[in-house]
Amino acid sequence: MAMIGFPTTCVSQKILCSSLQSKPSRSNISSSMSVHHKKPFRPAREVEGQVTHSMPPHKMEIFKSLENWAEKNLLTLLKPVENSWQPQDFLPDPSSCEFYEQTKELRKRAMEIPDDYYVCLVGNMITEEALPTYQTFLNTLDGVRDETGASLSPWAIWTRGWTAEENRHGDLLKQYLYLSGRVDMRQIEKTIQYLIGCGMHVKTENSPFMGFIYTSFQERATFISHSNTARHARRHGDLKLAQICGTIAADEKRHEAAYTNVVDKLFELDPDAAVIAFAGMMRKKIVMPAHLMFDGRDPALFNHFSAVAQRLGVYSATDYADVLEFLVGRWKVEGLAGLSEDGNKARDFVCCLAPRYRKLEERARGRRETREKRTVRFSWVFDREVQV
Ligand SMILES: [Fe+2]
Ligand SMILES: [Fe+2]
Repeated sequence: MAMIGFPTTCVSQKILCSSLQSKPSRSNISSSMSVHHKKPFRPAREVEGQVTHSMPPHKMEIFKSLENWAEKNLLTLLKPVENSWQPQDFLPDPSSCEFYEQTKELRKRAMEIPDDYYVCLVGNMITEEALPTYQTFLNTLDGVRDETGASLSPWAIWTRGWTAEENRHGDLLKQYLYLSGRVDMRQIEKTIQYLIGCGMHVKTENSPFMGFIYTSFQERATFISHSNTARHARRHGDLKLAQICGTIAADEKRHEAAYTNVVDKLFELDPDAAVIAFAGMMRKKIVMPAHLMFDGRDPALFNHFSAVAQRLGVYSATDYADVLEFLVGRWKVEGLAGLSEDGNKARDFVCCLAPRYRKLEERARGRRETREKRTVRFSWVFDREVQV
């Protein structure tokens, strides 16, 4: 994947007449189900080779010892509900007599935005909507999980508070997209249902070392991605949508600060375990949380969505290298001393990785530029073709 800048052409299909938006036929629905569901109770995409509980149990004490620290330094990065924005703050008010006028204006602005942008926005929204998976994921981590569902351990309070904040992201984007009339909501809802049913496989092995390194990476990645959809919305003249994406991006930035602070602390208390976990995650590669997405039709949906995001510069291979480089600097990995042999190897590995990615990316970009342009049909935009 590589960032190749902004798209130079806009998809011209702006007019969405009701005939284009008709619901999929019964035969469409049944054929997609029969192809992908020999056993309908199994996830649409299954994952093998899952490793569990690789962190030695005694390391859990580190997280117990950090509870006071977490109370003062982690929970303070949650925003009180009363000071928090809510999706309704950015959407037409359904109880107001101005609702229809405001919605009409929203839809008029939405008409000016090309399909490839919507593919990115929908992909981001679907990623946010799989939130049950992410809360489950955080509760797989040994030593920090919410043991009861209402635990008063600071780790558990953080996880629930974080989830509650994140819940607004998918809500806001989904309601905006519903009102825009530009996307096939039924196909999008199907994708969300499939995705939550599939879960995610980010290979953190129940280890909070790996888990918090993953979330640090992810929060920064989502900050970049939402910031870029904000930037593009502004370019297309939709300042309200830009504000929506920018507001979500600001939350992601605060979450990034929280998770990177936790990992900072881990580097301070157990640098060897922290750097080995960091290298382990990078060797396995940080997969995006929605990597198992499926819409009932396109088995390569995530790759296609990623290719559009890459082409538009919403999230690219260059961003991946940038995030890695940022985290290496943030956790002062290069200067780590007194490590074990494995720790030294891990440090050297992560410090050399970003320049290697950049070289590979440069070559890949050259190949892409000479390659013939390709399009893919996205069910999210009524099966219209979008360049990947
Ligand atoms: Fe989010
Ligand atoms: Fe976030």
